[in-house]
Amino acid sequence: MPQHNEVVNTNCLGTVLITHGVMQKYCFLIQRASRMIKRNRRALVLFVGSILGTMPSPYASTYGASKAFIHSLVSSLLREKYPSIKFAVLKPMYVKTRLSSALPPEHFALATPEQVVESTIRQLEKGQCCCAGYWRHGLIGAAVRNLWLAGKIGERMVKRWNRAAENRLNRYNAIKNTRKK
Ligand SMILES: NC(=O)c1ccc[n+]([C@@H]2O[C@H](COP(=O)([O-])OP(=O)(O)OC[C@H]3O[C@@H](n4cnc5c(N)ncnc54)[C@H](OP(=O)(O)O)[C@@H]3O)[C@@H](O)[C@H]2O)c1
Repeated sequence: MPQHNEVVNTNCLGTVLITHGVMQKYCFLIQRASRMIKRNRRALVLFVGSILGTMPSPYASTYGASKAFIHSLVSSLLREKYPSIKFAVLKPMYVKTRLSSALPPEHFALATPEQVVESTIRQLEKGQCCCAGYWRHGLIGAAVRNLWLAGKIGERMVKRWNRAAENRLNRYNAIKNTRKK
């Protein structure tokens, strides 16, 4: 249970509180800024979602649901009017970080953080507000959403790697608990 609390608190509550805190501060500053600054300044709030928030995420259900929460939050904020703030959301698949350490390093769906950053900047510059982060992730996401067979394969792959990540986390927690005793 504490793990689920942590995921919801960090991804849902944390995101809402930080977003509104930042927006209030920024709107206050921009109201006070000179006309020239107002004309040239536009803040960007980039949310980090996940492809797992767009499809079933067995063995990481709380995580997937918390990412779907972020996607829903952004889609509403995009329809509200904030003259000096732009919102965008990143929905990557697997990125080479601690979080994806259960995946083999040569996995075809694994991108490096640098690849994701470069590709996201390019997509943002084109004015996109929903970025896959890496071309291969965009392609896989579109195939999983639109093609029946790709959807089934994608779901199996996600289930497999979520399970591997869960086992890894359980082993890590078990070691941590025995060390504490
Ligand atoms: N890696 C992927 O495959 C992937 C795919 C899709 C989306 N994402 C998203 O990308 C974002 C960054 O993740 P990452 O891949 O860079 O993973 P990461 O290397 O494990 O980094 C996670 C970060 O979150 C912080 N964090 C963890 N629990 C926290 C808590 N309870 N309160 C505050 N901060 C906490 C960690 O802080 P400490 O360093 O202090 O532990 C760390 O800075 C996440 O939102 C993740 O969901 C990642």
